[in-house]
Amino acid sequence: MASSPRTGTGFTQPCSGTVTSTVGVMSVGLEQVRRDWTRLGSTEPLWAVCVDPDKRDGGWDDEEFLASGRAEVGPTLARLDELVPTARRDRVLDFGCGAGRLSNALADHFDRVVGVDISAPMLAEARRLDRSGGRIEFVLNERPDLSLFEDDSFDVVYTDLVLQHLPTDLAEGYVREFARVVRPGGALVLGVPETERRTFKGLVFRYVPWPLVALAQRVVLSYPAPMRMHTLRTARLAALLPEATIVASDAYWGGDHWRHLRHYVRIGGGA
Ligand SMILES: C[S@@+](CC[C@H](N)C(=O)[O-])C[C@H]1O[C@@H](n2cnc3c(N)ncnc32)[C@H](O)[C@@H]1O
Repeated sequence: MASSPRTGTGFTQPCSGTVTSTVGVMSVGLEQVRRDWTRLGSTEPLWAVCVDPDKRDGGWDDEEFLASGRAEVGPTLARLDELVPTARRDRVLDFGCGAGRLSNALADHFDRVVGVDISAPMLAEARRLDRSGGRIEFVLNERPDLSLFEDDSFDVVYTDLVLQHLPTDLAEGYVREFARVVRPGGALVLGVPETERRTFKGLVFRYVPWPLVALAQRVVLSYPAPMRMHTLRTARLAALLPEATIVASDAYWGGDHWRHLRHYVRIGGGA
């Protein structure tokens, strides 16, 4: 990636039709997540997806932003083909699609793409940037589950730069749901930080209470809303997916304050 973008926490990250679900079930944690990402999406959607101090105030060029998605998705799907050749290319779910950076890239490889997000203004931005000719469906989901999708209704669930921003219980609930909505022989591609690095900032995120970090993001870094940063260990991921197999966990960028892994998970039995 040409530039050196940063996460919502101020650190490097690799950006380097309407359907609406019901809102019947919303935990307090999820409501806060929805509020924060609605504010981020309505103020600076592209910067909030790929946080780079040089890209604030509308600094991202649309085409450069979308190109960063293609740069990620192409090699990742080539790797998936090697690891899980049974995963078909019919229908993919882009969980936490944001402004559609990865959805557009996925549309180059899948017949149908569903981008789901909790932030209505992010989805508005995704529709503005849709280059797929109508093959992406952007869906608002404000629930702590994916009950608007049937069992076995996708070939692949793809997510990156999302689970890390969710409180642990919510992230883990969605991971279980990913396995439910993917058909046997399909795959999950999950990008998530494994652990903090032992840098000053990594240690701050590990040990300083979240309300203080959130305050610093608002007051010192002038974020429109705070962005959480959580880790999900491979061992915990495996425990959440007892009937699936993590076939590879690749480090996908380095040098910042977290060690990020991209997990390739085969759903169902078989080699
Ligand atoms: C940093 S952005 C990443 C966007 C996209 N994955 C990408 O890499 O271009 C995180 C996105 O996750 C979304 N998000 C956060 N919590 C979510 C949830 N519970 N369900 C769906 N989307 C969620 C946010 O609204 C935001 O659009």
